[in-house]
Amino acid sequence: MKVLITAGPTREPIDPVRFLGNRSSGRMGYALAEACVHAGHEVLLVSGPCELDVPGHVDFIPVETAADMFEAVRRHLGRMDAAVFAAAVADYRPARPADRKIKKQAETLTLELVRNPDILGSARGEFGFRGTLVGFAAETESLEANARDKLRRKGCDLVIANDVSRPGLGFESDRNRVLLVYPDHSEALPEDDKHQLAHKIVREIEGLRSGASKAP
Ligand code: PMT
Repeated sequence: MKVLITAGPTREPIDPVRFLGNRSSGRMGYALAEACVHAGHEVLLVSGPCELDVPGHVDFIPVETAADMFEAVRRHLGRMDAAVFAAAVADYRPARPADRKIKKQAETLTLELVRNPDILGSARGEFGFRGTLVGFAAETESLEANARDKLRRKGCDLVIANDVSRPGLGFESDRNRVLLVYPDHSEALPEDDKHQLAHKIVREIEGLRSGASKAP
């Protein structure tokens, strides 16, 4: 199958030298890209700025901002069989990035932020994607309920929920613990290395493609 994967953080410019970012290292998304290639799938990896080596045998589109990522996904999603959105996309960006470096003057500085486009949320509607749609949910509370709400609202086949309040797991870590949330059931995977988890997740996506339901 052809799989599009988003990975890493986005950077939303404040001025030419500063940005709003987040703690995503890209490891989860890159591990998924490697696991897909290993399983014989074609991968397009759309990635925010990461310090990782680009996995071999993937098509790669580097992006900076949520708007760049939105545009890359919009352009390529139509020819994909599956899409996995592992990127940590900024929900907001500075309304008016400064052309020049902001000088230190007043004691306080207020930044006005505006909403970024929801890339995952645009897949079914605006982009008309009919393939297998897999989102992530990074939550600090009500993990399953929030993930199930995302699954429904965004028309996903599967949401991979991770509790990002646990130290040593999720963001910036080699390890993760995820809950697979399907429309009709959920399944917890034990804590593991992101590469091991990625292989399991790829097998779940292959199961979805072949119509194999693991519902109890
Ligand atoms: O990169 P690592 O250090 O390995 O960390 C992995 C991870 C914690 C970043 C990853 O496992 C993860 O949870 N990724 C999703 C992070 C996130 O932004 O979650 P969210 O609950 O805010 O977003 C929900 C979903 O919508 C995600 O699939 C996200 O990619 C997508 N989204 C969000 C906002 C937006 N504007 N566009 C989107 O497509």
